[in-house]
Amino acid sequence: MLRREFTKTCFVCLAGGPVLPLLAGCQSTFYTTGQMESNGISILKSDFTYLKKDQPVQRNYVIVRNDAMQFPIYVYRFSDEDFSAMLMKCTHQGNELQASGDHLHCSAHGSEFNNRGIVAQGPAEENLRTFKVSTEGNRIFIDLRA
Ligand code: FES
Repeated sequence: MLRREFTKTCFVCLAGGPVLPLLAGCQSTFYTTGQMESNGISILKSDFTYLKKDQPVQRNYVIVRNDAMQFPIYVYRFSDEDFSAMLMKCTHQGNELQASGDHLHCSAHGSEFNNRGIVAQGPAEENLRTFKVSTEGNRIFIDLRA
């Protein structure tokens, strides 16, 4: 299995049987290391696609976790050409955020951010650090300079 293409199973899923029906969406979280470039990191549009009953289905988001970055990046897909990307670092006290569908949650004190990185619930007061995203063919480039 290539390191950049795997679906990470959360610890709750590993706990087993009785809780699995409650976590149906959990298995769809997709992690990629991306490809580091001089000004940013690139991932693939195809990272958002998986097969369900032999039919292609689009994921809403992908998480980029690369050893070169202290925090992962949450990339949300609005359409085939419209993506947002934000650092998964809480602006309250710097805790790593958890993705939950179309929003990000901080387990430290309960802040929440929407899929554009805007504060939806405090105590955080500042929006997340976001990155400019561009696309070309199957490539999605996240500009880390801003
Ligand atoms: S560190 Fe995230 S809410 Fe406090």
